Amino acid sequence: MVVYTRLLALSLFSSLAVATPLALPKHLSSDLLIHETRDVLPSGFSLAGPAPADTTLKLRIALSQKSPDAVVDALYSVSDPTSGKYGQHLSKDEAAQLAAPNPESVSAVNSWLSEHGLSATPLTPAGDWLELQVNVSKANTLLGANFSVFNYGSYGKAAIRTLAYSIPAGLKGHVDLIHPTTTFPEPIASNVQLGKRSFHEPVLSRASSSKCANGTTPACLQELYNIPTTPASVSSNKLAVTGRFGNNAHYSFLQEFLKQYRPDMDPSTNFTVTLLDGGNNDQDQPSVSEGELDIQYTVGLATNVLVDYVMVGIKWQDGALEGYLDEINYLLSLDDPPQVLTTSYGMSEDSLPFNLTDKLCKAYAQLGARGVSILFAAGDSGVGCQENSTSFAPTFPSNCPYVTSVGGTQGYAPEEAWEGSSGGFSNYYPAPSYQTSAVASYLTQLSASSRANSTLGRFNESGRGFPDVSSKADNFLVWENGTASLYGTSAASPTFASVIALLNDRLAQKGKNPLGFLNPWLYSNAAGALNDVTEGKSDIECNGENVGFEAVKGWDPVTGLGTPDFNRLLDVLGLSE
Ligand SMILES: *[C@@H]1O[C@H](CO)[C@@H](O)[C@H](O)[C@H]1NC(C)=O
Ligand SMILES: *[C@@H]1O[C@H](CO)[C@@H](O)[C@H](O)[C@H]1NC(C)=O
Ligand SMILES: *[C@@H]1O[C@H](CO)[C@@H](O)[C@H](O)[C@H]1NC(C)=O
Ligand SMILES: *[C@@H]1O[C@H](CO)[C@@H](O)[C@H](O)[C@H]1NC(C)=O
Ligand SMILES: *[C@@H]1O[C@H](CO)[C@@H](O)[C@H](O)[C@H]1NC(C)=O
Ligand SMILES: *[C@@H]1O[C@H](CO)[C@@H](O)[C@H](O)[C@H]1NC(C)=O
Ligand SMILES: *[C@@H]1O[C@H](CO)[C@@H](O)[C@H](O)[C@H]1NC(C)=O
Ligand SMILES: *[C@@H]1O[C@H](CO)[C@@H](O)[C@H](O)[C@H]1NC(C)=O
Ligand SMILES: *[C@@H]1O[C@H](CO)[C@@H](O)[C@H](O)[C@H]1NC(C)=O
Repeated sequence: MVVYTRLLALSLFSSLAVATPLALPKHLSSDLLIHETRDVLPSGFSLAGPAPADTTLKLRIALSQKSPDAVVDALYSVSDPTSGKYGQHLSKDEAAQLAAPNPESVSAVNSWLSEHGLSATPLTPAGDWLELQVNVSKANTLLGANFSVFNYGSYGKAAIRTLAYSIPAGLKGHVDLIHPTTTFPEPIASNVQLGKRSFHEPVLSRASSSKCANGTTPACLQELYNIPTTPASVSSNKLAVTGRFGNNAHYSFLQEFLKQYRPDMDPSTNFTVTLLDGGNNDQDQPSVSEGELDIQYTVGLATNVLVDYVMVGIKWQDGALEGYLDEINYLLSLDDPPQVLTTSYGMSEDSLPFNLTDKLCKAYAQLGARGVSILFAAGDSGVGCQENSTSFAPTFPSNCPYVTSVGGTQGYAPEEAWEGSSGGFSNYYPAPSYQTSAVASYLTQLSASSRANSTLGRFNESGRGFPDVSSKADNFLVWENGTASLYGTSAASPTFASVIALLNDRLAQKGKNPLGFLNPWLYSNAAGALNDVTEGKSDIECNGENVGFEAVKGWDPVTGLGTPDFNRLLDVLGLSE
């Protein structure tokens, strides 16, 4: 187990901190301009009163990046198979330099803080995020804010936020945003559903003579996707699994799982744990399915790939951002981050404002440029239902064009869409070029079909479409002090991630670089090596009506490009024996 303590001494920042101060207005703080405001409270929140003046706030300041497009340009240049730099992933320092703020921004912010007797420390190798601890009374003065306590009904919990804050006029253009201020916490959904049955009977009849006959097990997935049982052999090849909300994975349950479902493996095959932000790994805690599922279907599928469970301990009232940000910043701080990251948590796109979303999305781009494949479960809420609205609700982080979103299927060769599989189109990001023709082909099929009527006008046709790929999401057998049957894209993401980790192992055996950011490769070279899913649909009840997208030939916003076939993917990589 590794307990991570943040590394704050960063040469970039320290050298900039002593740079010649700029000519700034004498009294920056006398000249405050509103930076962000919120007119209405998110539903469920109510004002309880002023925040106690001596409560300590952990404020995070996002500095504007020197060249806002540099990271994304670098990402595409190393991830697009047609690029001369394909596979030439960036080092930690190279990536950090591209994401760095202007030295002027760093000194402007530092001067402002020191005028108030405060100082901040960088949170990232690039120095584009700073953190400072400040009490409520000081924060109110600094930001012309009114930090108050807001209760959230069903949680019986309180969050300290302000409905507006300001920054000195001289800092405009240097500071993107300060958090937590006007963005309220949103519970992050775990995408696993215990024993959830399908609306439609899964097409298991086709599987009656297969290894999937009695449920989804490692043997079933190995048969269906041609995943080898051969152990991986390159020790530098690693896979990270995200853990949140104390959803721990029990060592003893994994051991029992391996005994039952991977009798060919050493049952003591283990995983490591990294704890961030006070995350806990209490093995006596009762089981919450998500952690067991995510670990059992990575350790139990990506045979002998080293699996690290990164457990982030951020509490609900601190907000969703910190957990995502701290995990990605931890990975960015490593010289050799794991080559694959799978996360089975998400939330609705509109619960984070665009600017905050974009900070995280660019951090994923930075990690991708370093050669990490980042996979997220698409979500379990179909097209996404919104109260009082007929518009569909896309999910975060799948809306980010620089991650690979994994949807769900059910049944057996051919699979069909799993009705819970989230998918759709972002309202924040336009469709990236790697997917424009795939998405256009889907929209053409949709408009030619009678199905169009129930979806038209309810999603953003120019938005980034997700998921990118899919994998089985039905009836996963998990050991948690007994056998549980679990459904959800929470199962699909670890499965797809395991396939990528095993492909990376084969690449590494030949001295080749890992796959890194997958999407440009998936939509071009690899599309034909996936099993296209053309049956079934997502299907949820929304405001009294059943809505969904149908799976069609080619890409669709339920199953993406399709499910993996290890052998055909090896062919595409020129690695078949
Ligand atoms: C600040 O917020 C409190 C509630 O938390 C309110 O009672 C007070 O009037 C507000 N102050 C100002 C100056 O708006
Ligand atoms: C808040 O912190 C400042 C120093 O930044 C200190 O002077 C002040 O006394 C503190 N106020 C309260 C109420 O704790
Ligand atoms: C988002 O960031 C951009 C550039 O940093 C800024 O111009 C814009 O005002 C911000 N939007 C909001 C809503 O804060
Ligand atoms: C499924 O269960 C039946 C009845 O217990 C058993 O005969 C069969 O071997 C099982 N199939 C698989 C693939 O586990
Ligand atoms: C797995 O690792 C943990 C932590 O080091 C240890 O307590 C546990 O016994 C290990 N399990 C096996 C089967 O070796
Ligand atoms: C497993 O089940 C046993 C017996 O019911 C119980 O004592 C134990 O606390 C359970 N362990 C976990 C981690 O749930
Ligand atoms: C939906 O409309 C009802 C009735 O007007 C209202 O009470 C509720 O707050 C609205 N919900 C949202 C999320 O806007
Ligand atoms: C639809 O997506 C485009 C491209 O991302 C965006 O500019 C536009 O604002 C979105 N429309 C809505 C209504 O959100
Ligand atoms: C689609 O909706 C239009 C107008 O609401 C209707 O005229 C048309 O018949 C519908 N088409 C189908 C195939 O249901």
